[in-house]
Amino acid sequence: MRTEAQAQPNIALIKYWGKRDVELNLPAVSSLSVTLDSLWTKMSVEFSAELPADELVVNTAVGGDMLPRVSECLDLVAGTERPRASVISECNFPIAAGLASSASAFAALVVAASRAAGFEKDRLSLARMAGAASGSAARSLFGGFVELLANEEKIDVRSIADAEAWPLTVVIAVTAAGAKPVSSGEAMIRSAESSPFYSRWVGQQAMDIATARDAVLDKDFGKLAAVSEHNCLKMHSVMWASRPPIVYWNSATLACMEVVRQLQSDGHAVFFTIDAGPQLKAVCLPDAADVVRSALDDCSGVERTMVSGLGAGARLLESK
Ligand code: PMV
Repeated sequence: MRTEAQAQPNIALIKYWGKRDVELNLPAVSSLSVTLDSLWTKMSVEFSAELPADELVVNTAVGGDMLPRVSECLDLVAGTERPRASVISECNFPIAAGLASSASAFAALVVAASRAAGFEKDRLSLARMAGAASGSAARSLFGGFVELLANEEKIDVRSIADAEAWPLTVVIAVTAAGAKPVSSGEAMIRSAESSPFYSRWVGQQAMDIATARDAVLDKDFGKLAAVSEHNCLKMHSVMWASRPPIVYWNSATLACMEVVRQLQSDGHAVFFTIDAGPQLKAVCLPDAADVVRSALDDCSGVERTMVSGLGAGARLLESK
């Protein structure tokens, strides 16, 4: 029987950047994210003794690049003695472009695969398996505002507020939809090895997390905006100072930042964040969403914008 699950990407406001343990994929710093609702990945899995090898299809094309990571993740879920699997993935937004497609993909994969293998696993166990494949994927098992903790022997993740508790809107400005030049995993290792700012970054993270958590619980938009932009720019400063430097931005990324600054000085409740890619995510109060989207649509170099509210964690869909 083919089993299907859906998960949405999440956007970190306080970033995960750096690994405490590369083998176990344990984060060096805690992070805090929001799970989106209108961007999604659907993954369906069928185990079959007839198959000679795992198969992966991504948006109707044979998805060679991701196959080894998918197979490894399936081993974690169903054991290395498992039958081979046919995995079909469908994603409604650009893949490997700094839009957290691996987070939604692995979150959906562990949910679909564990059901297909006949297991009933709790959400935290599923999050641990997804997080072993892609650190940020652990957060997509949960909805709303989610923390991934660094102070544990194992991946630990928890929801701090539901999506409904504070319905923010995220406008994504896509400035280049191609795959990123350096994977986030490789870039994190390079940052830890060569950036003179890395240890300061790690040292200050608990403070930023505490500030952001308070801001979420108090629904204090100004406070969340200030700490999120600071944390994002600090992460990119760590990357820029790495050797060789890691620069994910392009000129349109900077132009989008200027647009957000202008919107802020015009009194709109919006702030930006940027991940391992050139896209800018503008987080705003729902009232500001239309003006933010139209300003980013008009920004030179923006290919397209997407809008999303906050949503739920990964879940099973009706079996096919
Ligand atoms: O989970 P990974 O390996 O794709 O790393 C995610 C890194 C950032 O997106 C830049 C930050 C984050 O916390 O999501």
